[in-house]
Amino acid sequence: MSKCPFHNGQAATQAPPPKPKTNRDWWPNSLDLRILHQDPLSGRPAHVPHPSTKTSAGAFACYADKFNKLDLYALRKDTAKALVTSNPAWPADYGHYGPLMVRLAWHSAGTYRVFDGRGGANSGNIRLPPLNSWPDNASLDKARLIILWPIKQKYGESISWGDLIILAGNVAIEMMMSQEEPLWFGGGRIDAFAAEEDVFWGHETEWLKDDHRGGGDSLKKPLGATQMGLIYVNPEGPGGHPDILASAKDIRTTFSRMGMTDLETVALIAGGHTFGKAHGADDPSKHVGAEPEGAPVHEMGLGWENRYKSGKGADTITSGLEGAWTAKPTEWDNGYFKNLFGYEWVQTKSPGGATQWVPSEESIRAAGGVDAVKNVPDAHTDVKHLPIMFTTDLAMRYDPIYGPISQNFHTNPDEFKEQFKRAWYKLCHRDMGPKSRHLGPWVPKVDLIWMDPIPEESNEPINENDVQELKNEIMSLLQSSLSISDLVKTAWAAASTYRCTDHRGGANGGRIRLEPQRSWAVNDPPTLEKVISKLESVQVEFNHGSMKKISFADLVVLAGNVAIEEAARQAGFGDVKVPFVSGRTDATQSQTDTESFDALKPAIDGFRNYEGLANECPRVLPETALLDRAHLLSLTTPEMVALIGGLRVTNANTDANSTVGVLTDRPGVLSNDFFVNLLDMGTTWTPMESGRLFKGTGPDKSWIASRTDLILASNSQLRAISESYASTGSNEHFVKDFINAWTKVTMLDRFDLAGEADQE
Ligand code: HEM
Repeated sequence: MSKCPFHNGQAATQAPPPKPKTNRDWWPNSLDLRILHQDPLSGRPAHVPHPSTKTSAGAFACYADKFNKLDLYALRKDTAKALVTSNPAWPADYGHYGPLMVRLAWHSAGTYRVFDGRGGANSGNIRLPPLNSWPDNASLDKARLIILWPIKQKYGESISWGDLIILAGNVAIEMMMSQEEPLWFGGGRIDAFAAEEDVFWGHETEWLKDDHRGGGDSLKKPLGATQMGLIYVNPEGPGGHPDILASAKDIRTTFSRMGMTDLETVALIAGGHTFGKAHGADDPSKHVGAEPEGAPVHEMGLGWENRYKSGKGADTITSGLEGAWTAKPTEWDNGYFKNLFGYEWVQTKSPGGATQWVPSEESIRAAGGVDAVKNVPDAHTDVKHLPIMFTTDLAMRYDPIYGPISQNFHTNPDEFKEQFKRAWYKLCHRDMGPKSRHLGPWVPKVDLIWMDPIPEESNEPINENDVQELKNEIMSLLQSSLSISDLVKTAWAAASTYRCTDHRGGANGGRIRLEPQRSWAVNDPPTLEKVISKLESVQVEFNHGSMKKISFADLVVLAGNVAIEEAARQAGFGDVKVPFVSGRTDATQSQTDTESFDALKPAIDGFRNYEGLANECPRVLPETALLDRAHLLSLTTPEMVALIGGLRVTNANTDANSTVGVLTDRPGVLSNDFFVNLLDMGTTWTPMESGRLFKGTGPDKSWIASRTDLILASNSQLRAISESYASTGSNEHFVKDFINAWTKVTMLDRFDLAGEADQE
């Protein structure tokens, strides 16, 4: 019998014993709360400058402090040098790592998707599983660990991997465009030290499968790629079939999932493939080893060991496609469009067996013979090659929408260059939030609409007396025409659009009074209209003739706070104050991209017992959607539970007439009644006909509740928290915890106060 004390002890050469089952293995359908417990910064070494992980604002301020002291020009120079210094461990194609760096930056940023704001370069997650090992990211391990690591090592924590990767992509483009001045760049990406648990990449259990996601227009939300382990689409065409027009559809769907227009899509694909080459010296399935996460220890974080000849340089195998698009793969020019429109293209196979396209015999004859067309240099020898195109590249010519855009770029190279630079900046910065979160000297001065611009505060700040005056006005509304429920749910509607994944949404900007938010069903438009009009009257009255101005954005939050203070007073906590910090400003409708904002609309919102668009996600349980939203709001599990308890007793349901989950006889009073009644084991709960609601019958009371409500009692972990709030004497704790969580949500987008939020 083994004396090894470790339960899975084994000799290095033996097959591992079966892994012990976890709770997740035993009960795969139980609600998985890990999404709220993950802390990508928790695995960091102590000296890494994130003293508080309580708010992203705190972590951002710490990084900004380091980054702002960095000599960015020196870093740029070092990077430029590294890009043209070939390392024998991974020899540079054409003596220039520029194209490889552009691909690394693009693959870092390109996982971003609009529907949940997840993915993107923001956390440097291309270093961590699963992204470090996605088949589409083959060879990018070399770009990071062989080419960029010495630079990262030199500059340490002053530059995150997330920032360095994008900067290296920029430097590469600047060099290949022979451009002196830096491209637009904003720093501020904060590296995760642990793999993100929250991103849903699909249900497929094998790489490159697509059997659970639908294709073309019906690609399941929020996914942004057509196959598991791809950034976007299959270069050979959908499922590997060289169907150019179907491929265009896939491209349109996936690029729009990243918020890209058709114009931006063409600019990016054509601009990207103006550089570099594909690598398929032979069949990947015959020669290439395990990806980094599955590779043996002696590969030291690298993967995809290539056993074909030298395994690098001319023998590199990455995608399995082979060749370059233009005659000058390390220079910006119009060669991509010249070739795309200059030849008719026929299918061929790469040495690696992949389907790609080369100029037809007739095209070659028409161009004056093979020597005239074979003008693409080899990356490592003197041989010349025919240019190639992927099926996806031909979509840029033959799709009825992409085609004319490409034609226009073909004849207007300056416009192509300008649009590529703009789309590149958007691609790489889409997940970083408003401009105030972009650091450094190269941030553009102009306001770009996709950044959801918010005007800077230019008025004299309001003081304590002003706040009190406004609170009195709001109290008069509460005593006459509006209810606690009206004000709480409006403030929640404004603030809870925030997403920590891409820092969009939130109360700042006052966009709750603008389209599309004003009309979202989840926001109960009739109630919202009423509240907006009353609060606007207060705003007009206060601002009239005064140097001081209150923004609508501030007023909505203040009104919610007043309602909560009143609800607490009615519960016997008369001296409770909900913290309020003014300084929000109001955006205009023209500063708001309605289509892009619509991606923030919740289909299901458990905080407001709203399941109005549940048919859009039929396989998602409301409690799973609740966790997702709680994660986007960066809530902890106890914060989520406290918020639900408080929102139910203040009756913040979307449907103003709904009593679902309002487990109290005194709605509008900030009591712990919700928890007390939920945990009353004298109540018997039975599913109602809809299957979505439950009827609770007790000896002298009956209730209706949703799955979201009942999960707080049925899930053992959530129940433990509910019990603590339901216990005798815990009302005060509950009120305090609710107000803290409420304040956190209303302050999530206050990047202007970065750092201060952590100082308690
Ligand atoms: C290379 C696919 C869009 C930049 C490649 C390769 C594939 C590919 C298969 C060859 C990788 C290898 O074997 O080394 C696609 C597809 C796209 C797309 C299917 C979308 C439909 C883009 C975009 C950019 C870009 C938007 C940048 C803006 C590059 C660069 C290379 C490359 C620079 C050359 C890398 C090198 O020389 O090492 N792409 N790509 N691609 N791609 Fe794309």
